[in-house]
Amino acid sequence: VITYQWRGGFTSAEANALHAQAFGTRVYADSEWDWASLTRQHSLGWVVARDGDDLAGFANVLWDGLVHAWLQDVMVAESGRHKGIGTELVRHARDGAKAAGCEYLHVDFEDHLSRFYYDACGFAPARAGLLTLD
Ligand SMILES: CC(C)(COP(=O)(O)OP(=O)(O)OC[C@H]1O[C@@H](n2cnc3c(N)ncnc32)[C@H](O)[C@@H]1OP(=O)(O)O)[C@@H](O)C(=O)NCCC(=O)NCCS
Repeated sequence: VITYQWRGGFTSAEANALHAQAFGTRVYADSEWDWASLTRQHSLGWVVARDGDDLAGFANVLWDGLVHAWLQDVMVAESGRHKGIGTELVRHARDGAKAAGCEYLHVDFEDHLSRFYYDACGFAPARAGLLTLD
């Protein structure tokens, strides 16, 4: 059984391991990317999915302090994909943002994830922009 918790407990090491698996990066050290303390200080919330003791999924929810919230780093462990965990993570993120009084939840993503965000999670298409800071 997968459990979901808004602002649930997790360690930076768990998040760094999942991030490396989800996005093909190296595994950052806690001193380089301290997810646990950064999310506590800056995020509206986050969603932790667990399969027993294992981190099965994670989503970070950023915000402007009142109206807009943004999904970032939605990630599901490879072994648990296509079982609805990603959709549930996003649903809990939506509920958390709504409960905080936000009016909009934003996300941006690459084309191949359209079915996930539009069809499974219910997002409507919206224009977005991106500057690469190189
Ligand atoms: C994207 C991701 C979070 C989806 O998690 P998931 O738990 O597998 O998603 P769900 O099981 O809820 O998927 C529901 C539906 O969305 C669609 N979908 C899910 N992942 C998809 C993918 N990678 N490509 C295309 N469609 C996808 C499918 O239609 C899927 O239904 P199906 O399993 O019957 O085919 C997961 O693949 C992941 O962690 N990917 C790597 C990190 C990433 O790209 N995150 C998003 C950053 S914007």
